[in-house]
Amino acid sequence: MVTSVAPRVESLASSGIQTIPKEYIRPQEELTNMGNVFEEEKKDEGSQVPTIDLRDIDSEDPEVRERCREELKKAAMDWGVMHLVNHGISDDLMDRVKKAGEAFFNLPVEEKEKYANDQKTGQIQGYGSKLANNTSGQLEWEDYFFHLVYPEDKRDMSIWPKTPADYTELTSVYAKQLRGLATKILSVLSLGLGLEEGRLEEEVGGLEELLLQMKINYYPKCPQPELALGVEAHTDVSALTFILHNMVPGLQLFYKGKWITAKCVPNSIVMHIGDTIEILSNGKYKSILHRGVVNKEKVRISWAVFCEPPKEKIILKPLPETVSETEAAMFPPRTFQQHIQHKLFKKTQDLQAPAK
Ligand SMILES: [Fe+2]
Repeated sequence: MVTSVAPRVESLASSGIQTIPKEYIRPQEELTNMGNVFEEEKKDEGSQVPTIDLRDIDSEDPEVRERCREELKKAAMDWGVMHLVNHGISDDLMDRVKKAGEAFFNLPVEEKEKYANDQKTGQIQGYGSKLANNTSGQLEWEDYFFHLVYPEDKRDMSIWPKTPADYTELTSVYAKQLRGLATKILSVLSLGLGLEEGRLEEEVGGLEELLLQMKINYYPKCPQPELALGVEAHTDVSALTFILHNMVPGLQLFYKGKWITAKCVPNSIVMHIGDTIEILSNGKYKSILHRGVVNKEKVRISWAVFCEPPKEKIILKPLPETVSETEAAMFPPRTFQQHIQHKLFKKTQDLQAPAK
């Protein structure tokens, strides 16, 4: 039974339309420096998202180890986003996770609708598309599949794709390995602030409470990519976000006043520092503004895993060690849920403000 009222972008894209419905046309001010994403990705001049090689993150040679950790720390402070290579998760596993996700999205829309989420009743896990919010009525050019993948005891297996048959196994192994990588990254970021190694991990909920939520983003080909966005500009609310993609460009970062298109680095994982770590570090680590653009020629798919603190249990605020007489706390204390609400509220206010 199809209960969802949200239009699937995939159905719209495959209907052969040459112009996109007005709900998908973004306001002019959001469409700066769009260009052709394939051309943009090839450009070598200007700032580039850093690539961080994690091979030596646990090296026994303290000098070698420090050099690696220092680079990660610098990238987190300067950009807040990076391509991780030699991160310890095998190419084969990443390939298979991606194949499984692709196989799910290759099912007919009617099949996927059996997994449809129901945002109105709070069932946010499953297959979905963005619902227009009341204020702007704007939509994004993507469909997605969203579900909690770690800790294992908090998963709702009834919503996980049953096709392909290996989806559950592969996604579970991948989630577990990412969780290990998150611990490693958090320990380097802790040491980078002069904190004890396990501190940030503890502050975001530890093994029991830090939630890993996977969102597979499916961006169909778009007949008017210069007018639409796959994902509107935002910063991630998470502590960390890890992203795989199918090597089709689309991620853009707002760095030093300009939109930069991320290159597709083979076998890398794109990692974002999210708002949670930005807050805890009192702005020393950056949560960068980014967006997803679409194109006419190729379907883009990305697999984002958001590592998030529990919604209510933890008050997020700059850690005392990051605050001093000369560095006042830049963020008021808020739970994760309050932080999300605050962002929504601010966005609504901005939209209601008279156009400049
Ligand atoms: Fe994001």
